[in-house]
Amino acid sequence: MKTNKNLIVAIDGHSSTGKSSFAKMIARELGYIYVDSGAMYRAVTLHCMEKGLFDEHLAPSEEAVMELLPGIEISFRRNPETEVNEACLNGRVVEREIRSMEVSDHVSYISTIPGVRTQMVELQRKLGTEGGVVMDGRDIGTVVYPDAQIKIFMTAGVEVRAERRRKELEEKGVSVDPEKVRRNIMERDRIDSGRETSPLKQADDAKLLDNSEMTFADQMEWFFSEFDNILRDGQDN
Ligand code: DC
Repeated sequence: MKTNKNLIVAIDGHSSTGKSSFAKMIARELGYIYVDSGAMYRAVTLHCMEKGLFDEHLAPSEEAVMELLPGIEISFRRNPETEVNEACLNGRVVEREIRSMEVSDHVSYISTIPGVRTQMVELQRKLGTEGGVVMDGRDIGTVVYPDAQIKIFMTAGVEVRAERRRKELEEKGVSVDPEKVRRNIMERDRIDSGRETSPLKQADDAKLLDNSEMTFADQMEWFFSEFDNILRDGQDN
């Protein structure tokens, strides 16, 4: 269903609930652009790691991270083969590197830093100025686009999410200890929901989607039935 309304679709929720797969499917169906806001925090994290800011036990100080920020340029480039937007760090495609376990282990800390959030939110708003965007993250419906016409908050059981994440990594050829994956997910839930600046929480006007027992097809059916009125108003003739 193409819609000529330039809507903003904001998708927030817990880690490994399949937000990006769902967001990409919606973007394809509506003919919208997909923006992965988590990729931005991951790219900042990767840069800090490459600059040697993390050692085995110590997280870097906020000041050290903020000092690096002016040297970080994040952009997205469309891959013509996969037709997917890939994250770039200072012009280099880093789509693979930012999905590593090491980046996943450190990203929640980086995303708690208020100065980092301010800059990422600014960039996220810039990317959505024209509308016609599906954006996923943790604070899209609460902070980045509080006026988004469509807001979804996704969740699923921890075991289900850990198994999905393990499979996803396995498909990429990364073998991981399932218990480590489960712990990483629980730790990210704790940090994402507990941080002071823009904690992960469901916006009052967001629709809750628990996809523990849903297929992709079920989710798309839910989306079109839940938001039928909003989408139909803007349907192409
Ligand atoms: O969606 P993801 O797993 O790629 O996100 C990576 C991390 O970035 C996640 O631990 C929380 C953080 N994040 C955030 O704080 N705000 C967003 N809008 C998106 C992601």
